Amino acid sequence: MKRGAWDRLLDATVVLSFGRAGYERHARAFHPGELEVSLAGKTAWVTGANSGIGYVTARALGALGARVVLLCRDEARGASALARIRGEVPAGAFELDRLDISSLADVRAVVARRSEAVHLLVHNAGVLPLQRTTTSEGHELTWATNVLGPFALTSLLLPNLRQAKARVLTVTSGGMYPVRLGLPALQGQVERFDGVAAYAQTKRSEVILNALWAAREPGIRFHAMHPGWADTPGVQHSLPRFHGLTRQILRTPEQGADTLVWLAAAERPGHSSGQLWFDRAEAPTHAFPWTRESERERAALWGLCERLTQTAPAGLPA
Ligand SMILES: NC(=O)c1ccc[n+]([C@@H]2O[C@H](COP(=O)([O-])OP(=O)(O)OC[C@H]3O[C@@H](n4cnc5c(N)ncnc54)[C@H](OP(=O)(O)O)[C@@H]3O)[C@@H](O)[C@H]2O)c1
Repeated sequence: MKRGAWDRLLDATVVLSFGRAGYERHARAFHPGELEVSLAGKTAWVTGANSGIGYVTARALGALGARVVLLCRDEARGASALARIRGEVPAGAFELDRLDISSLADVRAVVARRSEAVHLLVHNAGVLPLQRTTTSEGHELTWATNVLGPFALTSLLLPNLRQAKARVLTVTSGGMYPVRLGLPALQGQVERFDGVAAYAQTKRSEVILNALWAAREPGIRFHAMHPGWADTPGVQHSLPRFHGLTRQILRTPEQGADTLVWLAAAERPGHSSGQLWFDRAEAPTHAFPWTRESERERAALWGLCERLTQTAPAGLPA
């Protein structure tokens, strides 16, 4: 679906696009009935499913009939989300498993202990820490959580995802638009750490990796989406000033998650792979020519992820 000139003008304001008014305007063009589908027989893994966009996505997929595994780093928060989601969707099939996606050891462990077919893999967990933190494996936390862990999880699940003809969905952010990929900044190798800049680098990388995965794995559907601005615990805690200024115009978590659920369940996204989506429409990956990375830089990003995760995926063309 292409948006008209008036929509494009309003979208250029960002506020009238990323906020609730943008969702409501874009939703007028949604095709009715696209989410009247059954996901019975499908298993979905959702990372960071105990809060915000991850929680409402898990709930929506469960309500559509999928068996949903909530992958959460904190057992108590996970258990509380599981109890809540079971109360809200009594007919749903939900399970909880522990996964700290910033830990490559944890990623290996979850793949080793679960042998089920995964039809929908939702890379939702994300962080925006304002201080530099290093994981016990030696990686800056934003980079480890938002990029390295998800890369490792997709890589290690590949045989399974291929067999299931899976959809692999990544929640990125419109905050990546002003940023050009820079590998040192992406890894937090900067003199003065800036959490928002580090976050934007990881979100830019997610969009690039989404396209690279799609080119390498034609049997799997890869999609990235950005939710606009949704009122979630993540925004409240990581960006309190932004939240205070914009809370009246923020989307609900459900509105933020709508495109994610659509990508998981609707028929249309089953016909393409590698794109970025926003409000059920394809979105440009770049808003400015100077943010475009070269093929060489994309390859360097891929190589770095492969090397650091030690997960050279089997059978990938060079
Ligand atoms: N809300 C927005 O406006 C917005 C805009 C652009 C992009 N996004 C993206 O949307 C996604 C969801 O964010 P949200 O707004 O819903 O925030 P949220 O409410 O903070 O949810 C983030 C989830 O990720 C989990 N998480 C963080 N680190 C993790 C780790 N190492 N392992 C496993 N889970 C981890 C959190 O678990 P804990 O509860 O244990 O911390 C939480 O469940 C993120 O990728 C974010 O970048 C959101």
